[in-house]
Amino acid sequence: MAKIRWKRVLARTALALLLIGCSEKSKNPMSPEDGTSPTGLDPFAQNAKLGRGVNLGNALEAPNEGDWDVTIKSEYFDLIKSAGFNSVRIPIRWSAHASTSAPYVIATSFLQRVDWVIAQAFARQLAVVINIHHYDEIMIEPAAHKARFLAIWTQLAAHYKNQPGDLFFELLNEPNSLLASELWNQYLQEAITTIRQTNPGRILIVGPANWYNIGSLKTLTIPADDKSLIVAVHYYNPFQFTHQGAEWVPGSEAWLGTRWTGTLAERQAIQRDFSEAASWGAANNRPLNIGEFGAYSKADMSSRALWTEFVARTAETNGMSWHYWEFIAGFGVYNSMTNNWNYPLLNALIPKTSPALTVASSFRLPP
Ligand code: BGC
Repeated sequence: MAKIRWKRVLARTALALLLIGCSEKSKNPMSPEDGTSPTGLDPFAQNAKLGRGVNLGNALEAPNEGDWDVTIKSEYFDLIKSAGFNSVRIPIRWSAHASTSAPYVIATSFLQRVDWVIAQAFARQLAVVINIHHYDEIMIEPAAHKARFLAIWTQLAAHYKNQPGDLFFELLNEPNSLLASELWNQYLQEAITTIRQTNPGRILIVGPANWYNIGSLKTLTIPADDKSLIVAVHYYNPFQFTHQGAEWVPGSEAWLGTRWTGTLAERQAIQRDFSEAASWGAANNRPLNIGEFGAYSKADMSSRALWTEFVARTAETNGMSWHYWEFIAGFGVYNSMTNNWNYPLLNALIPKTSPALTVASSFRLPP
């Protein structure tokens, strides 16, 4: 008995020391001022810090971590950092870990798990995006879930308010179905007001209804007086190529064998989508992030690598940061079987000989 108790004490002390160690490390330039909510951050400069990133998908966004065969490990952050990525996006299914009646309390053990993940990223000087992911219920019954959605943000915003400015909050992954643009534009405004009570200057990330579709940017309305925002879209076009054989997309078996070879027409279609988005960014004076893009493992590797490289470079030349979907599951840039990178994808994302990353403030207009 005594032995077991000592183990617990030692484990807790070790965790406390790790967290203290990480918060010490967070006193580096990533943190404007340790221990207070960040203010005075430039959203364009913060977007450049997101730079080239990767999603730690299929882990904390599963109903329970591990259900989809991904459990986040400390060494993942070493791998991601040393490969040259600048940031990680952590999709999180908070709705599976908050009570279903008011005040919708988030389970402490789950919150602590996310704390650990954030600390791991910061310990490697990786910027971190946390979001609300797979809140499927709010898409179907928005009104019934609005208070819970806002209560989750009230708790997260209070809990993380003193984290460095390199922690970004993304309001809600891919609003869709009945949470359509008109309603989503209202909800996002309320969520921003909620978060601003404790985090007046933190950079928030928000995307349009209709699954963050790049073509839906024009339906997004964000508060004009809030300058501390980054706008995100996701990119999976052509969908029949990127989602061929995806088990969660009915009918996608029929698309197996679709290739992407980078013909002029294929490249122009992507360039058109990105330049329209960039024009929206310029017209609205907002930095842009491609929060997800990737091609599923059932497509051939040569097409995946070509497409991935073309999308990543097109995002960069348009001044956008990006997060590849994803690290170690079905789209994985890392292979959990061989414990090695899928080098064609990694080289497509982080070219060895490329010029320095150009995510920039080039779209900034005079205030
Ligand atoms: C979803 C994932 C899915 C991916 C590609 C993400 O937004 O959360 O479950 O694998 O998109 O379809």
